[in-house]
Amino acid sequence: MTKTRPRNHIDRNAEGQDHFSAIAHRLISRRRFMLSALAGGTVAALGSCAPGSISAIKPADHSNALPVGVESSLGFPELAHGLGQDHHVADGYTAEVLARWGDPIFAGGPAFSPRQQSKGDQLQQFGDNCDYIAYLPLADDHSANAWQHFNSRNSSHGLLCVNHEHTRLHMMFDTPAGGNPGASVSEIGADMAAHGHSLLEIRRIDDSWQVVLNGNLNRRISAFTPMRISGPAAGHPRLRTREDPKADRIIGTFANCGGGVTPWGTVLTAEENFRKFFNGSPEKIRASHPREALMHERFDIRHSEHHWHTLYDRYDIEKEPHEPNRFGWVVEINPYDSTSTPIKRTALGRFQHEAATVVAKDQQPVAVYSGDDSPNEYLYRFVSSGRYQAQEREANLELLDQGTLYVARFADDGTGEWLPLVHGTKGLTTQDGFASQADILIDARLAADAVGATRMDRPEDVETNPLNDRVYVSLTKNDEREAVDAANPRLINPYGHMLEISPPGTDGDRDHLATHFTWNIFLMGGRPGNNAESDTKHTIHGSYGDNISPNGWFCNPDNIAFDPQGRIWVATDGFNDFGVHDGLWAADTVGDARATPKHFFGCPIGAELCGPCFSPDGKSLFVAVQHPGDFGDASFANPATRWPDFNDDLPPRASVVAITKQDGGEIGS
Ligand code: FEO
Ligand code: CA
Ligand code: CA
Repeated sequence: MTKTRPRNHIDRNAEGQDHFSAIAHRLISRRRFMLSALAGGTVAALGSCAPGSISAIKPADHSNALPVGVESSLGFPELAHGLGQDHHVADGYTAEVLARWGDPIFAGGPAFSPRQQSKGDQLQQFGDNCDYIAYLPLADDHSANAWQHFNSRNSSHGLLCVNHEHTRLHMMFDTPAGGNPGASVSEIGADMAAHGHSLLEIRRIDDSWQVVLNGNLNRRISAFTPMRISGPAAGHPRLRTREDPKADRIIGTFANCGGGVTPWGTVLTAEENFRKFFNGSPEKIRASHPREALMHERFDIRHSEHHWHTLYDRYDIEKEPHEPNRFGWVVEINPYDSTSTPIKRTALGRFQHEAATVVAKDQQPVAVYSGDDSPNEYLYRFVSSGRYQAQEREANLELLDQGTLYVARFADDGTGEWLPLVHGTKGLTTQDGFASQADILIDARLAADAVGATRMDRPEDVETNPLNDRVYVSLTKNDEREAVDAANPRLINPYGHMLEISPPGTDGDRDHLATHFTWNIFLMGGRPGNNAESDTKHTIHGSYGDNISPNGWFCNPDNIAFDPQGRIWVATDGFNDFGVHDGLWAADTVGDARATPKHFFGCPIGAELCGPCFSPDGKSLFVAVQHPGDFGDASFANPATRWPDFNDDLPPRASVVAITKQDGGEIGS
């Protein structure tokens, strides 16, 4: 993988550590000044961000949602850290499996048959390795139109829209030892069909969520689904292939990781690790396609563990060098029309998109936040040219086709800037290697390099808090950093951390279109106060709010959701590496217990947790348990757990779990 040396390089040695300490202290000092000013002179308590003495930074400007002196608003008894074969939820809650990989999602659909998988069956079944979840309300009146459905805010009847990020062939297929899982024609078909997205109608009946198999909006979107492509890069020569010479029709979406919901009732699904499905050597195309060779290397395309290229030339970059340029986009799906064609929105840029979080205010342009989930890649924001019309759904349907893509630069003094990626501006001209705006969008990573954006520790989810209108960013981990900065203060960051970004304005009403912001570290993942061996290697111990319990800390923050009260719910991906199940932790974002997580849900061994998603009333919480049982040298025949069926004839199955409170109240209350 070609790496560009980070700007402001700081040597990885004791001197570098001293330099970081100075940065951290400057950040804290600056924050202290700003907080005092914002709080009208009220002294805001601040922890230190320096190695050896960290505690979480306190809120900059309390919204007073919680009276000072009140402890955590989260009333559930905490789970203990653990690592076992089953899932666990806090006492007082019910966590029921709602949809498993292979479950039919249509009436009369084929039952799961793990040793005889096929494309045809899988296209009628829930896909594998569920990730992002969106809940789109359905009015009880079936004749309602899309707008009426969406605005019904119905919390007992909806469409569950679920990404299927990837497959793990050794866990998917029952292959004899020494065999090649996923390589046969039928297995390739099943593999490709297991990716993409599922839409399924669900209904809460007698306090239990059930799939409505004859729901007329139920749908599978996969690597076989035709898509439209729109925006500035549509039709561009670098997107043209032999099968699609006009670059206006792309078959398939895959590597669907995070996502978002637009206020006009569509779902955004983000293509992340698309690189894994392409095979071939960038070196072999360097002479004929130098730019593609450069970018395919940047995405680390080389050998695919999947076998799609053996059946379809388009997945072989030596035969179709442009094909990867057609992936790594945000795809917009209209869930309320099962015949609608998904649209790849190129204005949002091409990278390993993790999440697409939309902020929209009536009569204003919309903002969409997205991270590029790779070590040392960037955080982006798109701002539309057109304005959101809250009263007119149809007027918004093409809003994501025109606008400006920005990338974030975090200054060490706690301020930050959104840098526009606009053709013709400094560093982004034809002489700089960008022939057009389409080139900038196709190669967003190169454009971000050129303007001096901040390299981040694997940006995963980005979400806005309805309570204070701030933006929260999960940075899951990074072991490839060459230089620290205040926003990514660990040179070796195995534990991850979270940032809180404050656009200008006041809590609850912030300007997400502004070019400047302030930021602070919301928490540092890892064990508070002691991170064992890594502490001696220039890393920083875990840092949270006050009075964290022994089970409240976590590693590797990934997906984020906010409940209606503005409390943050953080799913983790990687805690297994430290001997603890991944799961869900919740924390207040304001008040005395700000940034003090409590442990709510634990996954079975091997699984990461994805997609926390609340119903509009906050009384149901949907989570996605991804790749259960894949731990150590696990395989289809020898998984670490057979969750959720615990049937010796069935492999473990990634599943969506529906969580409700036994007294019928709001989750977390
Ligand atoms: Fe699906 Fe970036 O994790
Ligand atoms: Ca993720
Ligand atoms: Ca993840």
